[in-house]
Amino acid sequence: MDRAAELLFYVNGRKVLENNVDPETMLLPYLRKKLRLTGTKYGCGGGGCGACTVMISRYNPITKKIRHYPANACLIPICSVHGAAITTVEGIGSTKTRLHPVQERIAKCHGTQCGFCTPGMVMSMYTLLRNHPEPTLDQLTDALGGNLCRCTGYRPIIDACKTFCNTSGCCQSKENGVCCLNQGINELPEFEEGNKTRSKLFSEEEFLPLDPTQELIFPPELMMMAEKQLQRTRVFVGDRMTWISPVTLKELIEAKAKYPQAPVIMGNTSTGPEVKFKGVFHPVVISPDRIEELNVVNYASDGLTLGAGLSLAQVKDILADAILQLPEEKTQTYHALLKHLGTLAGSQIRNMASLGGHIVSRHLDSDLNPLLAVGNCTLHLLSTQGERHIPLNEQFLQKCPGADLKPEEILISVSVPYTRKWEFVSAFRQAQRQQNALAIVNSGMRVLFGEGDGIIRELSISYGGVGPTTICAKNSCQKLIGRPWNEEMLDAACRLVLDEVSLPASAPGGKVEFKRTLIISFLFKFYLEVSQILKRMDPVRFPSLADKYESALEDLHSRHHWSILKYQNVDPKQLPQDPVGHPIMHLSGIKHATGEAIYCDDMPAMEGELFLAFVTSSRAHAKIVSIDPSEALSLPGVVDVLTEEHLHGVNSFSFLGDPEKLLESDKAFCVGQLVCAVIADSEVQARRAAKRVKIVYQDVEPAIFTIEEAIQHNSYFAPERKLECGNVDEAFKVVDQILEGEIHMGGQEHFYMETQSMLAVPRGEDQEMDIYVSTQYPKGIQDIVASVLKLPANKVMCHVKRVGGAFGGKAFKTGFMAAITAFAANKHGRAVRCILERGEDMLITAGRHPYLGKYKAGFMNDGRILALDIQHYCNGGATLDESQLVLDIGLLKMDNAYKFPNLRCRGCVCRTNLPSNTALRGFGFPQAGLITESCITEVAAKCGLSPEQVRTVNLYKGIDQTHYKQEINAKTLIQCWKECMAMSSYSLRKAAVEKFNSENHWKKKGLAMVPMKYPIGFGSRAAGQASALVHIYLDGSVLVTHGGIEMGQGVHTKMIQVASRELGMPLSNVHLRGTSTETIPNANVSGGSVVADFNGMAVKDACQTLLKRLEPIISKNPRGTWKDWAQAAFAESISLSATGYFRGYESNMNWETGEGHFFEYFVYGAACSEVEIDCLTGAYKNIRTDIVMDAGYSINPALDIGQVEGAFIQGMGLYTTEELHYSPQGILYTRGPNQYKIPTIRDTPTEFHVSFLPPSENSNTLYSSKGLGESGMFLGCSVFFAIHDAVKAARQERGLFGPFMLNSPLTPERIRMACEDKFTKMIPRDKPGSYVPWNIPI
Ligand SMILES: Cc1cc2nc3c(=O)[nH]c(=O)nc-3n(C[C@H](O)[C@H](O)[C@H](O)COP(=O)(O)OP(=O)(O)OC[C@H]3O[C@@H](n4cnc5c(N)ncnc54)[C@H](O)[C@@H]3O)c2cc1C
Ligand code: FES
Ligand code: FES
Repeated sequence: MDRAAELLFYVNGRKVLENNVDPETMLLPYLRKKLRLTGTKYGCGGGGCGACTVMISRYNPITKKIRHYPANACLIPICSVHGAAITTVEGIGSTKTRLHPVQERIAKCHGTQCGFCTPGMVMSMYTLLRNHPEPTLDQLTDALGGNLCRCTGYRPIIDACKTFCNTSGCCQSKENGVCCLNQGINELPEFEEGNKTRSKLFSEEEFLPLDPTQELIFPPELMMMAEKQLQRTRVFVGDRMTWISPVTLKELIEAKAKYPQAPVIMGNTSTGPEVKFKGVFHPVVISPDRIEELNVVNYASDGLTLGAGLSLAQVKDILADAILQLPEEKTQTYHALLKHLGTLAGSQIRNMASLGGHIVSRHLDSDLNPLLAVGNCTLHLLSTQGERHIPLNEQFLQKCPGADLKPEEILISVSVPYTRKWEFVSAFRQAQRQQNALAIVNSGMRVLFGEGDGIIRELSISYGGVGPTTICAKNSCQKLIGRPWNEEMLDAACRLVLDEVSLPASAPGGKVEFKRTLIISFLFKFYLEVSQILKRMDPVRFPSLADKYESALEDLHSRHHWSILKYQNVDPKQLPQDPVGHPIMHLSGIKHATGEAIYCDDMPAMEGELFLAFVTSSRAHAKIVSIDPSEALSLPGVVDVLTEEHLHGVNSFSFLGDPEKLLESDKAFCVGQLVCAVIADSEVQARRAAKRVKIVYQDVEPAIFTIEEAIQHNSYFAPERKLECGNVDEAFKVVDQILEGEIHMGGQEHFYMETQSMLAVPRGEDQEMDIYVSTQYPKGIQDIVASVLKLPANKVMCHVKRVGGAFGGKAFKTGFMAAITAFAANKHGRAVRCILERGEDMLITAGRHPYLGKYKAGFMNDGRILALDIQHYCNGGATLDESQLVLDIGLLKMDNAYKFPNLRCRGCVCRTNLPSNTALRGFGFPQAGLITESCITEVAAKCGLSPEQVRTVNLYKGIDQTHYKQEINAKTLIQCWKECMAMSSYSLRKAAVEKFNSENHWKKKGLAMVPMKYPIGFGSRAAGQASALVHIYLDGSVLVTHGGIEMGQGVHTKMIQVASRELGMPLSNVHLRGTSTETIPNANVSGGSVVADFNGMAVKDACQTLLKRLEPIISKNPRGTWKDWAQAAFAESISLSATGYFRGYESNMNWETGEGHFFEYFVYGAACSEVEIDCLTGAYKNIRTDIVMDAGYSINPALDIGQVEGAFIQGMGLYTTEELHYSPQGILYTRGPNQYKIPTIRDTPTEFHVSFLPPSENSNTLYSSKGLGESGMFLGCSVFFAIHDAVKAARQERGLFGPFMLNSPLTPERIRMACEDKFTKMIPRDKPGSYVPWNIPI
């Protein structure tokens, strides 16, 4: 063995040689910190988000081919890249050299907002193009399935990538043999193109062509290295870990014999997350490098043998090839494996993970092991003792001694036998989300019949997700042998399997009844699938399937993505150089795409910089008996452990209402509360030391988590808030019907892609402190830091270049963490950086408030609601934060688009022992609106009307008053509603949905349309004030500064458009560097959809001041340039710098009288969504969404459409897949993308049409525009109600006509369980209260 080997690899064409590498280092921090290639981002550290995607290229000396594949740098140990060429986003193009077409197109198609996901997207797309220069749309969505974006909603990213596909405008899906563009009702009405409206946001003609010959070549040195046979095992020795890379099989088995406990690292996608998230440590690891025997592909007479080292992506290709080559009857298992390989993780993980690693890991939710187990596969093992062959069976899966690998054995390959005639294999899985989500339950099933007799000879059924590992229903299968394949057999099979694969009520992962139902629903699907094939093989002997069953076997109907956008063209009289109203690309778009855009953690390390890691409470409600930092302090590199004691006298701060403590050392009020902070000279050391701080707790009763518990304990922050209009009690006396109901709505995680980040830099002079923070509220940061450091604000400056997504989550909580970081920096006189890991971020910062809504509605038989009494309860968590404001706004907006003449609404903020919930896009409206819409849906059911009919009769019409007596004019609301009806062909499609539902028993479609009135405003003039500073330099260039934060919404781009219009100069002449308390003091928090509106007014004001001053100079030389004018002004001593100010809109609210003019204006809109659900599994697909919005005069239609779409998709996630889970002890389980499912590219509606209504009136907002940042969020509930509609159809067909309540999010679990049928009746149920559930509904 070569000790202390040299690590050699290439990055972006440059050679990297490392002699002293620490094997614990991952590629991501190496790229970012060591090589300063900060384009590759950290988003989760666990392979789940794709922000860290790079391309790995390896040369195979045997095939002489180079393999390029995408990979997650966060899971790649640095030692595993020996001999590889790595390409990062910086390596493919830059603004300094040339852009790569992928970079150019994603930016110009408006596929970037905050830009944090963009480098990862670019690299996934780039790698796809390296392998397939003209990809299909399927390849495209597949390639991007492992990349999350929280901002864009994916449509513009799809559009950008589609420009590389060799397709026409057609979606390529010929449903029923008809082209999508020619399918009657799904066709959109013709847009009046002409001069008035436009539908293109970019022009393809400008794009750089893709030229594969321009790509970086594979380094010849690496090729030569690979060709050389003389390599020997390389060993890398670190402080704690030794990495052994054998290069021959002999060396591999010798190494394993020597270190039997060492894991064999292949893709590291199983071992890596265990090390990172579960604290597992391996002193020695063995990582084979290019060992031929591990990569065999051998077609034998009885089956296919696959090397254990093949990646899952390679296995996928090999199986696809085998299916083409072999007769169908032999490839049943391969078909089933391929089906699961299509949805397993994302492309990056499939390319990294190995078949052997997958099998040996034996994860409980493994997608392949159930299939390999039923497929009678054999594992070929090797050790220094010789070869062994063991079956991949139940005993192996359960790691039974004798049936398992021995510690010194290596899995070399796997034989997957061919199937025989009359043998059938099927694969099933259901996850929270379609792609890149671990299965909740999966299954492999195989049956072998006697020759044409339909009698079961062999039967194997395995399940994943229902036990500690894959479970085989062996006894059940045994008992069914000899039985004919008929319904009696199915019935018996269901009962037997339910008995054998029994899940305890408190099983980990929860969803117990759903899992039980899936177990037998899958069985039913298998029964049908096989029956259908039998019928096909022998139509005489085997009966036809009942028509109504056929739909159980079909996939959810969906086509390829396409969209039509429609926005208003600019006034033909507008000057051609005036950019306002044009779809200008995000100012940072190109820099996002090249990785040059700098975020907080991309800033280079300062001299002597330290890192801060928080220690948080592990108890929800407890007295903190002691904190012992001694062990942490004894670790090398640890500088300090800060507790409340150090912050004596400055440990509390109030942003709104009651002061909150920064660090808590007496009492813990929630799991995740900040208790102390460890400061060390490196991130690794700080995190290691944080785990060594010993805290002793004494639990305090009661610990309150749920809203119901808070109600029971009367645990509220403040007295009930109430608004009332009309005479509710009297109205209840005259109505035809009254109903009472309630709905529970879960919370939501912000899931901004850039986690909380801050860097505090003491300047060493006059106690000045600079703090660089990813925040929406620099002034707030300045205030709290100044308070903690006991400094005047003028010594503390907060700077924000850009924020990688915020959505309300980077204001107050960020302030507390920034203040502690600044305190540490001040104490030690050194810069201190604090970057939260994803899990910490989700735990500490919480998110949207869960709600319980109770309602009583009095209505007439025609659907008119005359009396409504609504009660809101929101789960505020342990501190008040912004919860009261969220609740208040919810009460003000709860009427949504409806006039309820007699209305009483009340609300309370519950105090619980959970991390404090805070602002999140929409601020109370998404919850309040859903409660109202649910009530309407129930009213409709009682009246025998469609929800849309009841919505229509209750809409505000014309000029009216809200329940707090603010005047509104609902003309535009009605227009949006009607336009949406027309654009979505609502009536035709409603009929089509009904027809579909009558023909399909197990698949149902649903259609729903929801209107929206979204009020904009803050309730106080002061909260709306904004300022700007505009400088003109003597060369004529302009620098604009304002108080708004660029967090993806494109506010800086809009501000440059404003300055360009006002000063009449080209966009390229105006620059914007970022936001700072140094240039703009006292700026309000950026949020509430008004950042561009308010700051734009201030920029406009500053520009107009300057213009006024320069008017005499310009008029003297009207043909001059800005340089001429600036110099002339300077010569005449005229100031070229001006501040601009906007006072905010008049706004008031009197909660005593319940009256006020809280809002400045209303954004109106409507959305219509169509979904299809699978009644047997709860899967759903959003087939189409149409949105009509009233955007006023859009300043930038590309940015505004982006906001609407992005918010819609975030809303869709809120109401469907995004589900937070807390343990009965109040511990958040969902702490990363692997547990918490935001929408991916496959979840976007396949048809997505957005139309802006022609502006009808001028208003006193900025150029009569409207703020669109948040409103689209609520429209996501059209998907919720479309699913509701589909579930209703399923229930009615099964004879269930009574009312039913669906809570939010409407997950596959809730959908499945609501579609009650014989299977849901068959499963055992557990008596509530008789067990401790895995999770609690908060
Ligand atoms: C983000 C993410 C999403 C995922 N999604 C899915 C999903 O949807 N469905 C699913 O089924 N799985 C999923 N997985 C799990 C994934 O399939 C496994 O992690 C992967 O297959 C393990 O392979 P590996 O090569 O990375 O294993 P490694 O982490 O390299 O090794 C895992 C274990 O296998 C052992 N081992 C590896 N090779 C050998 C060998 N040849 N001989 C002996 N022992 C060996 C090692 O000692 C180690 O203990 C996901 C994982 C991640 C990170
Ligand atoms: S940071 Fe690597 S996948 Fe999220
Ligand atoms: S642009 Fe994709 S996460 Fe912000």
